[in-house]
Amino acid sequence: MKTAFVTGITGQDGSYLAELLLFKGYKVVAMKRRTSLISTDRVNHLMENENFHMVYGNLNDSGCLHRLLLEHKPDEIYNLAAQSHVRVSFETPEETTEFVAMGTLRLLEAFRNTCPEARFYQASSSEMFGDNPENPQNETTRLTPASPYACAKVYAHNLCRNYRESYGLHISSGILFNHESPRRGETFVTRKITLAAARIKLGLQDKLYLGNLDAKRDWGFAGDYVEAMWLMLQQDTPDDYVIATGETHSVKEFLDAVFEHAGLDVNEHVEISERLFRPHEVPLLLGDPSKAEQAMGWKPKVKFSGLAKMMYESDLELAGKESV
Ligand code: NAP
Ligand code: GDD
Repeated sequence: MKTAFVTGITGQDGSYLAELLLFKGYKVVAMKRRTSLISTDRVNHLMENENFHMVYGNLNDSGCLHRLLLEHKPDEIYNLAAQSHVRVSFETPEETTEFVAMGTLRLLEAFRNTCPEARFYQASSSEMFGDNPENPQNETTRLTPASPYACAKVYAHNLCRNYRESYGLHISSGILFNHESPRRGETFVTRKITLAAARIKLGLQDKLYLGNLDAKRDWGFAGDYVEAMWLMLQQDTPDDYVIATGETHSVKEFLDAVFEHAGLDVNEHVEISERLFRPHEVPLLLGDPSKAEQAMGWKPKVKFSGLAKMMYESDLELAGKESV
């Protein structure tokens, strides 16, 4: 039985990845940080699985990371933990950099010193392309990060390449474009829209405040994207891969798709708030996933309108419980 060590287990991707790994017969050692409120909603359904082991740890604690890897000797390490909200990274740049950049460095050092035969996945991001107008973006597109979050991800991304080349370690970085799901955090724009639409539909809310509706993103489904993470670590040679759908849509298009599906009028319920704009926007992300398809046979299954409907329907069910 293979052992996988996963950071960021309580997040959206951590929960889908853990499901996939358990299905494939792995023992999953899942690292969570201590929080004052219980934060395991996304993985509560896995707690009874005898191959799922939750352990406490934090990316800012080198000794703890070293001890955990020494104790569990994983075959695969998936580094998903991060302060992952771009706008928040302008408000907490130091914390974001500490976890995203220095946290990755600490985990790489623990990996190199305790289980160098393992394979390592790094959660890199399309946000690293920032305001570079070239598109579609692929593995060789210039990185021009436009937020403290993206700057920290570029550092981590470069560090992973450096450790791979310097020490011959099996490290692959997935440059993942935006991926969403019913488990997406409620402050990211897709989920904010689907949850608000569901609550408006049921009379629990009247207004939805949004920022820049013109930004365009390449949105896919998180369940498809964790398969790509796993596939990267099954390749003989480590490498970096863009994971995307190859389609881009504006926030306005996502909003319209959801409101139309819900039978709601955008003009009646949606207002623009300057407060929600960012100091520096990333105007357009559009990925070219052809390398991942050619090398690993990976293709996204869920498309834009299916994703919008899936998320709205799930939130309608959730909001329905609120209104009982
Ligand atoms: P998410 O839902 O925000 O989850 C982030 C996870 O990291 C949570 O489990 C969080 O724990 C944990 N975490 C934060 N700081 C930590 C620390 N210091 N020590 C230990 N754990 C910590 O993010 P996601 O959407 O699943 O994304 C997973 C990874 O992919 C992130 O690195 C993100 O930056 C990257 N990424 C995401 C996307 C996307 O569109 N989703 C695209 C490209 C890259 P708590 O529950 O305690 O907060
Ligand atoms: N969050 C949010 N809230 N975004 C809004 C809002 C709002 O009310 N109104 C408009 N937007 C716009 C943002 O300005 C941005 O252009 C776009 O919606 C998407 O914002 P988010 O959903 O917050 O995602 P993101 O693209 O900034 O970052 C996500 O994707 C990255 C990959 O490209 C995160 O998951 C990052 O962790 C990830 O790396």
